[in-house]
Amino acid sequence: MSTATHDLVIDEVMVEADALQQRVAELGRTISEDYAGKDPLLVGILKGAVFFMADIVRHVTVPCELDFMAVSSYGTATESSGVVRIIKDLDSSIEGRHVLIVEDIIDSGLTLSHLVRTLELRNPASVEICALLVKPERRVVEVPCRYTGFEIPNRFAVGYGLDYRERYRNLDFIAALHPSMYEQDGEGEPRRASIPTGEAGQA
Ligand code: IMP
Ligand code: MG
Repeated sequence: MSTATHDLVIDEVMVEADALQQRVAELGRTISEDYAGKDPLLVGILKGAVFFMADIVRHVTVPCELDFMAVSSYGTATESSGVVRIIKDLDSSIEGRHVLIVEDIIDSGLTLSHLVRTLELRNPASVEICALLVKPERRVVEVPCRYTGFEIPNRFAVGYGLDYRERYRNLDFIAALHPSMYEQDGEGEPRRASIPTGEAGQA
């Protein structure tokens, strides 16, 4: 996709499309080695992880299954509270299964930390995390992330599944949102469509 239509909102490209695809392929190969003979269940978190999930599984060469969950975080406009409600649960039991959560980004870590605890109560053989992006500066709780695509600075990222108010998920690269978009909200930070005030919103 051309950046032309998005010039007004994008400040800088943080990860180019080629670099994304190269790293996703590497992660897929590593996962294939680690999960040989384990018949893993890859759990994509809707909606942000759909592109990452679709691309990475095509580099996984061991037998695996896919499932998806949709979660919502309660919190203020910009901060996740860590209280997560399951909007769409897994289709089947994970008892005794090797579960690999595929997520778009770890920000505070609150959403994933809650989700991991929830899934561990279901007696899986293992639960690991594969996150495309991590923002180390924003971390509030430690989340053991086994596979990481890229560490990014504390900027609001869009593209390749990540949204700003449900837009820009379809970019094939990762970009930092232009600061003027933050100022529009008058809060010094963009309002996350995924974490609306008061109500539950889908990640
Ligand atoms: P956490 O609970 O603070 O780690 O929030 C994780 C969720 O917030 C992610 O799954 C995203 O849906 C959303 N999020 C966090 N940072 C960004 C960002 O920079 N761009 C878009 N969505 C984000
Ligand atoms: Mg998400």
